Amino acid sequence: MSKLTAGDVPEHVAIIMDGNGRWANSRGLPRTMGHRKGVEAVREAVRTAGDVGIRYLTLFAFSSENWNRPEAEVSDLMGLLKAFIRRDLAELHGQNVRIRVIGDKKNLRGDILPLLLEAEETTRSNTGITLVIAFNYGSRDEMTRAMQALAVEVAQGRMTPEQITPEVISSRMDTAGIPDPDLILRTSGEERLSNFLLWQAAYSELLFVPELWPDFTREVFLAALEKYAGRERRFGGLSPRQTIAVGS
Ligand code: FPP
Repeated sequence: MSKLTAGDVPEHVAIIMDGNGRWANSRGLPRTMGHRKGVEAVREAVRTAGDVGIRYLTLFAFSSENWNRPEAEVSDLMGLLKAFIRRDLAELHGQNVRIRVIGDKKNLRGDILPLLLEAEETTRSNTGITLVIAFNYGSRDEMTRAMQALAVEVAQGRMTPEQITPEVISSRMDTAGIPDPDLILRTSGEERLSNFLLWQAAYSELLFVPELWPDFTREVFLAALEKYAGRERRFGGLSPRQTIAVGS
C-alpha cells in the first residue's frame, strides 16, 4: 500500500520511457515487441497518475531524433501511437483526461497529425489529468521555434527585446499553460535528459530508476513517487531548517 499523502504528490510528472528495446532483446524478441509492451505500461502509468492525483503527466513518446532509427521501427512506433489514440481515445475521454501534444507539428506526413489534433480537440474541455504526449519533440527544436517566433514579434515592432522575460519565453514554448515538471523520471538506468524539457526542467527533481519501461508497473511508479516525496525542494533558496539557523 502506498504511503503517499496528498501534499506529497507532484503536480506534474514527466517521463522518459526508456528500455523497450533492451526489454525485448533480453527475451530474444524483436524490438517492436518491447514497444508493444511499452504501450501497456503507458496505460498503467496514466491510470496510476490519475489515481494518486497527479494533474499533468508528460510522456516522451517520440523524439525529433527518433526519425534516425531504422524505417521499420519508426513505422512501428507510428503505428502504435496511432493505434493507441484510435483505441484509447474514447476511454481516456470518458475518464475526463485532457490530451495535449507538444513537439513540432509541421511537416508530419500521413494521418498522424489529424489523429493528434483530434485527440486534443475531443478532450479540450476535460478537467481531469492532462496527458501531455511529446511527439516529434526535441527541447532545442522547441526553444529554437519559440525564439524565432519572438524574433518575428520584435522585428515587427510588436515587442521590445526588454519585454522578453522568462515568463514570456515560457508562454511561447509548446508547454505554454502547463506548469514546469516537479519530477522528471527516466527508466532503464540511463541518467541523462536527452533533449527533453530542458527549459522547463530548471527546478525539476530528477529520478532515474533501473526498471526498463515495459516493467514500469504501478508499484514501481508509486515507489518513485515516495522517493520524490522524501526530497527537499529549495528552488535556489534555503530550507526551513537552514533559515532558522541563519536567523538565530
Ligand atoms: C525508448 O525505448 C522508447 C521509445 C523510443 C518510444 C516510447 C514509445 C512507446 C512506449 C509507445 C508509444 C507511446 C504512446 C504514448 C502510446 P528504446 O527503444 O530506446 O529502448 P532501448 O534503449 O532499450 O533500445
